[in-house]
Amino acid sequence: MVRPPGPRAQGILARDRKVVSQSMVREYPLVLDKASGMNLWDVDGNRYLDFTAGISVMNVGWNHPRVVRAITEQVAHLSHGAFLDFCSEIPVMFAEKLIQFLPESLNRIYFSNSGAESIEAALKLARYATKRKYFISFYGGFHGRTYGAMSLTAARVIQRKHFGPFLPVIHSPYPNPYRPLGFSPPTCDLDVIQYIEDEIFKLEVSPEEVAGIVVEPIQGEGGYVVPPVRFLKRLRELCDENGILLIVDEIQSGCFRTGTFLASSHSDVVPDITCLAKAIGGGLPLGITVSSEEIMQWPPGSHASTFGGNNASCAAGLAVLELMGEAGFADHVAAMGEELLTKLRWLQERHEIIGDVRGVGLMDAIELVRDRQSRKPAIQERKAVLTAAFEQGLTLLPAGESVIRFCPPLILQKEDIDTGIGILDQVMEGLSF
Ligand SMILES: Cc1ncc(COP(=O)(O)O)c(C=O)c1O
Repeated sequence: MVRPPGPRAQGILARDRKVVSQSMVREYPLVLDKASGMNLWDVDGNRYLDFTAGISVMNVGWNHPRVVRAITEQVAHLSHGAFLDFCSEIPVMFAEKLIQFLPESLNRIYFSNSGAESIEAALKLARYATKRKYFISFYGGFHGRTYGAMSLTAARVIQRKHFGPFLPVIHSPYPNPYRPLGFSPPTCDLDVIQYIEDEIFKLEVSPEEVAGIVVEPIQGEGGYVVPPVRFLKRLRELCDENGILLIVDEIQSGCFRTGTFLASSHSDVVPDITCLAKAIGGGLPLGITVSSEEIMQWPPGSHASTFGGNNASCAAGLAVLELMGEAGFADHVAAMGEELLTKLRWLQERHEIIGDVRGVGLMDAIELVRDRQSRKPAIQERKAVLTAAFEQGLTLLPAGESVIRFCPPLILQKEDIDTGIGILDQVMEGLSF
C-alpha cells in the first residue's frame, strides 16, 4: 500500500482545486479509481474496505454485475426518453415494482433526479394538496441543498449562512436520547410532540396553516440519531388531528438500510408522502416522491423535470429492487446490523472516547466524546480517527459534530465487520487520546 494520498492522487487533487468548486467537504484525500462489492481502489492502486456505500447509495454493493448489465443494456437501447413528453415502459415497470415494496396507500410515483429534488416535489405537492403554506421540520435534520430542502435543513449553519431568506419553515427539537436538550431521555419523543403543540402551534403558527411536517425516521447527516420508536406514531397522530401531511424523508434510511424497505415501518407508520433517492438508483441519479392517488392529484403542467423517469436510472433501479426482493436480503441486513452493533459495543468497552453506540440495521454510529460525563463532542479526535482509518485501508464517514457513521453496502459479511472493527480498534489504540 502506497501511503495515501499517493503521487497520482496528489496530482489529481491539485488539478481539482484549480477547476472545481471546493464547496464540498471531503474528510480525507481519497481519489477513486474503481469499485466492486465491498471494496474501493484509489488511483495509486490502494484497496479499501468500504463502510460508506458512497453515503448509503451502493446498498447492493459497488458495481453489482446485474446493475451494471441493466444500465449498459438500457443505455445502448434508450437512455434519455423525455419521459415528461413521451411515455416509455421502463419507468412504468419501475413504478409498478417499487409500489410492491411500499404500504398499499403509497401508490403514485413522481420521478426526479436527486434527494433534494424529491423533497422539492414533496413540498410542492403538500402545498398543492392542502392549500397551506408552512412546514415544520427538525433541528439536526438534513433534507438537501436546494431552496425548499435547505429551508427544512437545520443541521449545520454553514449550509444556511448567507443563503436566506428561506421558505416558511419552523424548526422543532428532534428527540435525541443521547443529547435530549433539556428533555428527559425516555420521554423526549413525547416532550417534542408537546413542544410542537404548546410552543409552535400556540406561539408561532396556527396548525391550520401547516401543510406538512417533514421528518427523517432516523436523522442521517445530523448524527444517526435514533428517536424512541413511538415518536413517528405520535407525529402521525398529531398530523391526523390537524389535517397536516406527514412527509417522511427516507432518502438515507430507505431501501433496506435499517432492515425494512422503509425505516418508518419499524414504527408501524404510513406516511402521506415519502421521499427516496440515493440507493434506489443503484449509483445513477434517481429521486422518487411517493404518495397516494388521493394526494397526488396535481394537473398536467404543474410539475415535471427533463430527466425525471430517465430510462437508464429506472433500469438500474429495477435491478436494485430485484436484488433487494430476493429471499433473505432483509434478514441479512438485520443479522449483520446486530453483529456490527455488538462489535461497536465491544469497541466502546475498550475506548473511553466512544460515548454512545446506536443504530438500526446497518445505519449505525458511534459518537466520540471528550469524556463520558460531560459528553463534550470530540471533534478533532473524530477527524484523526477517520484519517488514520483511511490510511489503514478503511473508509468511514462522519455525521453530526463528532459521530462516525457505519453505512456499509448491505451485502457485507461477518468477516468484513471483523476486519473493519479490527482496523478501527488499532487506529484508536494508536491515537491514544
Ligand atoms: C435524509 C436526506 N435527505 C435528503 C438528502 C439530499 O439528497 P441529495 O444529495 O441527493 O440531494 C440527503 C443527502 O444526504 C439525505 O441524507
